[in-house]
Amino acid sequence: MNVAGKHYRTIWLKDGAPEVVQIIDQRLLPHEFHIVDLQTVDEVAYAIKEMQVRGAGLIGATAGYGMYIAALQAPKDSQEAFLSFIEEAGEQLKATRPTAVNLEWAVERQKIAIAEAVSIDDMIAIAQQTAQDIADEDAEFCRRIGDHGVSLIENFAARKNGEPVNILTHCNAGWLAFVDYGSATAPIYAAHDKGINVHVWVDETRPRNQGARLTAWELGQHGVPHAVIADNVGGHLMQHGLVDLVIVGTDRTTYTGDVANKIGTYLKALAAYDNDVPFYVALPSSSFDWKIRDGLRQIPIEQRNGDEVRHIYGRRENGDTDWVLLTPQDSPTANYAFDVTPARLVTDLITERGICDASETDIARLFPDKILAGDNVPR
Ligand code: MRU
Repeated sequence: MNVAGKHYRTIWLKDGAPEVVQIIDQRLLPHEFHIVDLQTVDEVAYAIKEMQVRGAGLIGATAGYGMYIAALQAPKDSQEAFLSFIEEAGEQLKATRPTAVNLEWAVERQKIAIAEAVSIDDMIAIAQQTAQDIADEDAEFCRRIGDHGVSLIENFAARKNGEPVNILTHCNAGWLAFVDYGSATAPIYAAHDKGINVHVWVDETRPRNQGARLTAWELGQHGVPHAVIADNVGGHLMQHGLVDLVIVGTDRTTYTGDVANKIGTYLKALAAYDNDVPFYVALPSSSFDWKIRDGLRQIPIEQRNGDEVRHIYGRRENGDTDWVLLTPQDSPTANYAFDVTPARLVTDLITERGICDASETDIARLFPDKILAGDNVPR
């Protein structure tokens, strides 16, 4: 994806220094574009936990590179010591954020790959290759989501006689949440690039404002018409026919089609259902949980520090960026980071293998191999 005309991914190995992983510090966007070096497992864990990187796909890719860094950092005197370091690094990374299933998926994929090598040197080489494969696959799967999803937008465009197709999205399931393209945004970028007139309603997405800060910024970099709206506006727009479709991402979707996504998604799905607005969820297969049947009861929902609700981050007129206090200093807060939208409110899922109903049978039609494996491990 382009930033000021230059192509970036969200994570990569430093040119000429393949032991260094580089990321964009997303906490500072859109006001500052700052690249950070990661060289230890602690730094990778911090980057995920404190949301320098975020979004399901990118969390998974970062964990993949984190396991490569663990292989570089691990003691080399015995295989036992090396593998025990790898195991501990995996547990440390998995503990950083609980909801996005891509994190566990990437760590387990690395552990399986590393265990197949015979020497420590091979294990390091395999960890590097696997991290690269996870990142490349993430970008490619998102590109394919764009290819499949664009047909949905084309159908709306055909009925609108050149008027814009209005798409509402929540949070940031854009290229910043993945390695490239994004999930929810991939069909939007594909449609825009084909010359279809699209317009995106961007939910601000309190408390961390991923919509207002990140989705608005990346759509702007790509030249896609959009408007940022306060979190509670979507229902009103739908009642007045101003939303043709909703496309959101997901941090974890059960094999039965229940969708965990950024807090507030469920309310948008209810409003969409009440107004006959199609509600699509775009995801690569790494965001399915092949073990969990009941999203509401089984998906772990992250609760974050209440300071995120108490404060808001932005830029002053003099150019300085800062957090400011929004609530009374001592007001108690609750900060649930995700909610679950039941499958019955989801019109369809857009995946790298095509579009399917949010149902066990139709997901199994597209992913028979994964359903059979049933264990979140890539086959
Ligand atoms: O807390 P975040 O920013 O890591 O949350 C993830 C998200 O950006 C959203 O929930 C997104 O819609 C799905 S992740 C592709």
